[in-house]
Amino acid sequence: MRSLMLAAVFLLGAALSITVQDGTAQCKVKWLFGISCQDVYVKLLTQIKAWQIRQSCFYAGEKCSYELVSTSPYLITATHTSPTTKKVNDLQFLLEQSTVCKVTGEAMSGDPADDTNYCSLQNLINGSELNSAEGYKQFSNKWICAGFDTANCILP
Ligand SMILES: *[C@@H]1O[C@H](CO)[C@@H](O)[C@H](O)[C@H]1NC(C)=O
Repeated sequence: MRSLMLAAVFLLGAALSITVQDGTAQCKVKWLFGISCQDVYVKLLTQIKAWQIRQSCFYAGEKCSYELVSTSPYLITATHTSPTTKKVNDLQFLLEQSTVCKVTGEAMSGDPADDTNYCSLQNLINGSELNSAEGYKQFSNKWICAGFDTANCILP
């Protein structure tokens, strides 16, 4: 059992270093909502549009500078450009309706040292108040989301 766990840790380490050599930083987050995926979809889309690039960006911290890339009934893709670092995160939200609405969010950055991926995703969830929707649950960890354990999304 112990050697199995060690092997798993070792493999995970290898996978992580491959990710780093790749020259990208990635973050994956799963959310569950007790409301319909249609409601989630509309809220996410509305929030991205509300935070598109505009003059007030300077005072909004990271809560601006989103751009919608494409939409289809169960997939939203967007980008977030940090107004301070100018780094670009590619974002994707995949929605799956079952008894609850399951959403998989993925963020990718070309810079392996960029740990803003998590905030780029979660800020949209909080901004649209989806984090107080019925049945809200969030799943992630630092292995599948670079910077998950250290992120401070409240930065001015
Ligand atoms: C989102 O809101 C929760 C409280 O529901 C809070 O704990 C968390 O820090 C917030 N995250 C962001 C990115 O603002």
